[in-house]
Amino acid sequence: MTQNELKEAVGRAAIAYIPDDCIVGVGTGSTANYFIDALAEIKGRIKGAVSSSEASVARLKSHGIPVYELNTVDELPVYVDGADEINHQLQMIKGGGAALTREKIVAAVADKFICIADESKLVDILGNFPLPVEVIPMARSYVAREIVKLGGHPAYREGVITDNGNIIIDVHGLQITQANDLESKLNQIVGVVTNGIFAHRRADVLLLGTANGVKTIK
Ligand code: 5RP
Repeated sequence: MTQNELKEAVGRAAIAYIPDDCIVGVGTGSTANYFIDALAEIKGRIKGAVSSSEASVARLKSHGIPVYELNTVDELPVYVDGADEINHQLQMIKGGGAALTREKIVAAVADKFICIADESKLVDILGNFPLPVEVIPMARSYVAREIVKLGGHPAYREGVITDNGNIIIDVHGLQITQANDLESKLNQIVGVVTNGIFAHRRADVLLLGTANGVKTIK
């Protein structure tokens, strides 16, 4: 199976976790896109979706799925999203698509986070994928210097502005063994909006696309 076929398989498998008549939290990226396409096939049995990016809003709307503002929603039973890396504790690096802040907000509201990923994303130690950090533009150089003090190698992601009008610094060279701790430390740097470690709010379920089918890891 190709990587895209594995992504499609996990996107479809996530449909089993969607209750009737609910509003669904929807993530961002190529795997989440497969989930959105599968969601379109059952759109008659959900109320609609809350989205983590403008790109996913556009895809949801193109399928005729109603999109709600998060502030108007009281209950979000499930959030479905991909990851750039996920470890065996279901802690993740996210933000390869620069949507990490809205992803973290929607994930925080949801009762259950279902991560959908092909098997290339499962790692023993997070950090091989450069860690995205969303930063207020005027704080870029300061935040980069503080990241160096924490042992990372920051790189400005050229030409990318997030949906919130901020920039992304990608941090290379990290071996993230204490994910909760590093997530908190990065959040303490003034000018950081969010970092892409999802450890305080890790996934509840991982649907992993493998050559032998979709594995469920809890
Ligand atoms: C976007 C994300 C995505 O979930 C992550 O980048 C995975 O993307 P893909 O499914 O395309 O591999 O965090 O900000």
